[in-house]
Amino acid sequence: MRIVNIVGTRPNLMKIAPLMEAYADAPGIEPILVHTGQHYDDNMSDLFFRQLGIPEPDLNLGVGSGSHAVQTADIMKAFEPVVLERDPAAVVVVGDVNSTIACGLVASKLGIPLVHVEAGLRSFDRSMPEEINRVLTDAISDLLFCTEQSGVENLRREGVAEERIHLVGNVMIDTLVRHRARAAQSPILDDLGLAEGEYAVLTLHRPSNVDDPETLGRIWDALEALQRDMPLIFPAHPRTRRRMAEFGLSPRIDALENLQVLEPVGYLDFLQLMARARLVLTDSGGIQEETTILEVPCLTLRENTERPVTVEMGGNQVVGSDPERILAAYRKIVDGQAGSGATPPLWDGRAAGRIVEILTQVL
Ligand code: UD1
Ligand code: UDP
Repeated sequence: MRIVNIVGTRPNLMKIAPLMEAYADAPGIEPILVHTGQHYDDNMSDLFFRQLGIPEPDLNLGVGSGSHAVQTADIMKAFEPVVLERDPAAVVVVGDVNSTIACGLVASKLGIPLVHVEAGLRSFDRSMPEEINRVLTDAISDLLFCTEQSGVENLRREGVAEERIHLVGNVMIDTLVRHRARAAQSPILDDLGLAEGEYAVLTLHRPSNVDDPETLGRIWDALEALQRDMPLIFPAHPRTRRRMAEFGLSPRIDALENLQVLEPVGYLDFLQLMARARLVLTDSGGIQEETTILEVPCLTLRENTERPVTVEMGGNQVVGSDPERILAAYRKIVDGQAGSGATPPLWDGRAAGRIVEILTQVL
């Protein structure tokens, strides 16, 4: 049974890695890995193949960056002949990026069963490109694998047939569990001169935060104050680096003494940075989940989250972009509020195995 699997961006790689491993134990499955090329820098793509032991993609569509329409259309045009030629039993897409919906649409229109891993998450904010990708991908998927109960409930409410929905846990956490001990050997804290529990980690890349100079400026007001109190480590996403330069923010940021702006770092270093931090500030989806398992407090610099279990069970707080709100939440954490010790159901490192078992039965 031939299954085509899609990756395009950095977070897709942490999600596909355990699936590729689980296929290796399923003799009836012939996995094919297709990279759309949406992310292409070594430190946004190839580095993760090496670190996570993901097999070389069978094909790289080399699509690269572009507007939403250009990127989505280019992926579709490049992927259609691949599906026609390989004639798979199913196409598996993960997450909520443009590569997810583009390849999903191609598969669905060609009548190939579409499998969505990380289905049902909803921020209920249609101004987020990822929310459009989630809603549309789920609407055309034949098998929907959910990470948390809220996803199951969202899909039921949208009328998805019960037999298509499976709560299986979180493949991104499979990767964390698998690599946690190795990450603990990373020398990154020494390299950056950091003491365990005495620094904060920051990531930012949502268009709503970084493409709007006013919002980005307000977030930096908070971060400027925060870094006076605690060292702040910021591996900057390429979108964000570009915007900071365009908005003329770079001189202001370069002047901050207690801030280290880095290139994006590899998975093992980043996991170690998060695991030993006092707190993490982020607008990433995956990092809200990883900090939940690492029991590190997380301040989500957004107005909403599609991953409510990280707030209900973990130490995640959704604090938006208002400096006073961010700093008030920060002070509470520094004054002793820790991340909670709860693990969401099935976030146990075995989600990919469950998915492959169901695929084998259903397909
Ligand atoms: C994409 C996803 C987002 C996901 C994020 C993970 C969509 C709509 N967005 O956002 O959901 O959270 O990836 O990181 O699919 N660039 C580089 N090198 C690269 C890749 C990108 O320089 O290897 C720069 C380019 O200037 C590009 C910009 O980053 O225009 C944005 O890249 P793009 O893939 O369009 O969106 P992301 O912001 O990365
Ligand atoms: N990550 C990483 N290096 C970094 C920043 C993030 O390895 O410099 C990892 C992080 O641990 C998580 C994933 O990248 O596994 C999250 O990707 P991102 O925030 O780009 O996307 P999102 O989850 O928001 O879609």
